Amino acid sequence: MIKVWIGVVSLIAANLVQGLVIKRFDEKAANAPEQIRIALGKEPDSMTITWSTLLALSNPSTVPKVNYGTNPFYLTVYQNASVNNFVYKKGSQYIYTAVLPNLQPSTIYYYQVGSSEGWSSTFNFTTFPKGPNFPYTVAIYGDLGYLNASSLPYLKQAAKNGDFDFVIHIGDFAYNLRTNDGQVGNEWLNAIQDIAAYKPYMVIAGNHEEDKGHNFTNYRNRFVMPVNNPYGDNLFYSFNLGPVHFVGLSTEYYAFYETYGQQLAINQYNWLINDLKQANANRATNPWIISYQHRPYYCSNNQTSECEFYVDSLLKDGLDQMPGMEKPYLDNGVDLIFWGHFHSYERLYPIADNEVYKNASDPYNNPKAPIYITTGAAGCDSGHGTFDDPPNPASAIRLNKFGYTLLHVYNQTHLHMEQISVDDNGKVVDDVWITKDIGYQFNH
Ligand SMILES: *[C@@H]1O[C@H](CO)[C@@H](O)[C@H](O)[C@H]1NC(C)=O
Ligand SMILES: *[C@@H]1O[C@H](CO)[C@@H](O)[C@H](O)[C@H]1NC(C)=O
Ligand SMILES: *[C@@H]1O[C@H](CO)[C@@H](O)[C@H](O)[C@H]1NC(C)=O
Ligand SMILES: *[C@@H]1O[C@H](CO)[C@@H](O)[C@H](O)[C@H]1NC(C)=O
Ligand SMILES: *[C@@H]1O[C@H](CO)[C@@H](O)[C@H](O)[C@H]1NC(C)=O
Ligand SMILES: *[C@@H]1O[C@H](CO)[C@@H](O)[C@H](O)[C@H]1NC(C)=O
Ligand SMILES: *[C@@H]1O[C@H](CO)[C@@H](O)[C@H](O)[C@H]1NC(C)=O
Ligand SMILES: [Fe+2]
Repeated sequence: MIKVWIGVVSLIAANLVQGLVIKRFDEKAANAPEQIRIALGKEPDSMTITWSTLLALSNPSTVPKVNYGTNPFYLTVYQNASVNNFVYKKGSQYIYTAVLPNLQPSTIYYYQVGSSEGWSSTFNFTTFPKGPNFPYTVAIYGDLGYLNASSLPYLKQAAKNGDFDFVIHIGDFAYNLRTNDGQVGNEWLNAIQDIAAYKPYMVIAGNHEEDKGHNFTNYRNRFVMPVNNPYGDNLFYSFNLGPVHFVGLSTEYYAFYETYGQQLAINQYNWLINDLKQANANRATNPWIISYQHRPYYCSNNQTSECEFYVDSLLKDGLDQMPGMEKPYLDNGVDLIFWGHFHSYERLYPIADNEVYKNASDPYNNPKAPIYITTGAAGCDSGHGTFDDPPNPASAIRLNKFGYTLLHVYNQTHLHMEQISVDDNGKVVDDVWITKDIGYQFNH
């Protein structure tokens, strides 16, 4: 009898334990860190790590964190993460952010994210050298998408090969982050993890991030950029890397001013002119100023009759209290501007106020005006862009091929740009050097 009892009790106990194990396993699975990505931090020697779990950590005293170090088998340092419960319609997730400060330059770091309730595998990234004089390569593209993300396998391979050191994704990410209550955004962030967990993934918002009246809420909650504006707004920011001052801007504040008002674009403008003024004062250290924004205002695409629609003139020249973007670029000698939105590639000759500067034997040497590049051709499921004829007079080359841009920053005088076509198996389909003498700056 006693034996039977012991048998029953141990059976119940075994079931209970199994039940607990299964339950814990399920919770762990649901709490597994996902959407792991890194971005350049506010300080040049810091890196921001972001990830999500779909459920809250089950024990309120569990501390989410990043373990890291320079030995992959011995992650000796940690940083606690902050957590934000992001709820969008029926979608809910917990987004964690930790900043790793005081990193050594030119060093490989290994890290894992999570908590005692579930850890990620170990990833790695390499920090940039110190100072303003080192070369690197940035992959730049817009309009990738989740469905038919044509460039994605190529970008993953290129990241693995070390073909680029970081990414600038100039808007229109997933088509859309918001879709299916944000699930498409989650799936897309998981799809790019093989890139974004290793290479800093810098972003700005496109029209597909607007969230249909919800004020870019998926973008605002999911991305941590090195914001240096007084509004704490991650739709525009700037940072220095090697010899370049990069500026990321929102064209969508112009495009959606009827929904959100003019003030957001005005804030951005006020910050921009000050940021560019400072960058100009710092030209000896960072001689290149490169900005990126989602929508163009010079192009040969026919969707807006070569950028001659109302929205394009808004961007370029402004409206009412909302000043346009071209004047600060001209006033402050911005060298190069990348934009996307149209699903094609186009390189323009230097252009200012609709005047084209292509007469010199090499218009890209000591260019007389800003150079604009459309690179919105990473993929997506809405097909290739289409062009008008004749092209915009500033058009140097235009290609109806999916792909992405590699910008090789050599030094204070030399930039090299290559366009990779994934429709041609990764072939280089445009190749140009942009050069200037030390101290050269155009004047308008
Ligand atoms: C991380 O959080 C734990 C628990 O709250 C705390 O004891 C510890 O001091 C924190 N560590 C750091 C580096 O902030
Ligand atoms: C970093 O991680 C990638 C992907 O797992 C791996 O291929 C690479 O060897 C790692 N790099 C180092 C230096 O460990
Ligand atoms: C949109 O979000 C920004 C940043 O949080 C905020 O400043 C602005 O007031 C919001 N606009 C509207 C119309 O809700
Ligand atoms: C743009 O060009 C394509 C291809 O020639 C054509 O099918 C389309 O109708 C044009 N769209 C507009 C808005 O003109
Ligand atoms: C370039 O050359 C053309 C033809 O000679 C001329 O009409 C135009 O004004 C020149 N443009 C500039 C910016 O010098
Ligand atoms: C999907 O990608 C392929 C390969 O890049 C491209 O040829 C095709 O046009 C794309 N389809 C759509 C609907 O965009
Ligand atoms: C900059 O890089 C280019 C390309 O490698 C090289 O030809 C040039 O000499 C370099 N200039 C300086 C000042 O280092
Ligand atoms: Fe777009």
